[in-house]
Amino acid sequence: MNKILEGKVKTVYDVDGEADKVIIEFHDKVTAGNGRRVDFPLGKGSLCCSISALIFKQLAKEHIPTHYINMIGDNKMICEKVNIVPIEVVVRNVAAGGIVRETCVKEGIRFPYPLVEFYLKDDEKNDPLLTPDRLNVMGYTPILTDLMASKALKVNDILIDLFNKLDITLVDFKLEFGHEKTSGHLLLADEISPDSMRLWKKGTRERFDKDLFRKDEGDIVEAYKYILQKLLQFV
Ligand code: TMP
Repeated sequence: MNKILEGKVKTVYDVDGEADKVIIEFHDKVTAGNGRRVDFPLGKGSLCCSISALIFKQLAKEHIPTHYINMIGDNKMICEKVNIVPIEVVVRNVAAGGIVRETCVKEGIRFPYPLVEFYLKDDEKNDPLLTPDRLNVMGYTPILTDLMASKALKVNDILIDLFNKLDITLVDFKLEFGHEKTSGHLLLADEISPDSMRLWKKGTRERFDKDLFRKDEGDIVEAYKYILQKLLQFV
């Protein structure tokens, strides 16, 4: 397979004879601190791939267009080829992580409404938080950023309902979008898995997400397996 892009935990390949499709391979690899900490947990790639596939399928049912087409094997998916918008869109329902480190908001506070934040997708610059003016001078129109924000809020509503059924609080998550190569349509892209979400057992701060690795507090494979098994009961 012809490699197009090598990310920290995923590799993207061309699909022979299908210029508008890619294969995304999810590796048994986890990183934190901008790649400074690395581990290779067995089975993690297939768990993130399967969870992402289930969530993308669920979102498609709710009329959110995504890049996902099909899974092939247990750790690869075929997706529409997109030009990724190099902006990470974060939605926060409950305070944790960055917002707790960078402001005086206390961990666990539920926000009166979901916060939508934009970060530059650039590891060398440490993914800085972007303001509306910064987005504007970088050439991102309010038409695009408003569209990404409204889609992110719709995804939030759908995922809150879904994880409620699993007795899990959706604390926050990160989305990436891309423009479909041929039509230019904006599609949800990348992955949606416990690597890119914070998931707490309802009423507690028991984690089922990558914070277990970031904070060295437990086995992510066991946690991700739990999420996949629960999701399979409800989707
Ligand atoms: P943060 O609290 O570290 O800003 O992260 C908010 C959410 O976004 C959390 O669920 C983790 C996710 N995220 C990623 O998936 N990739 C990233 O590079 C960052 C910064 C956050």
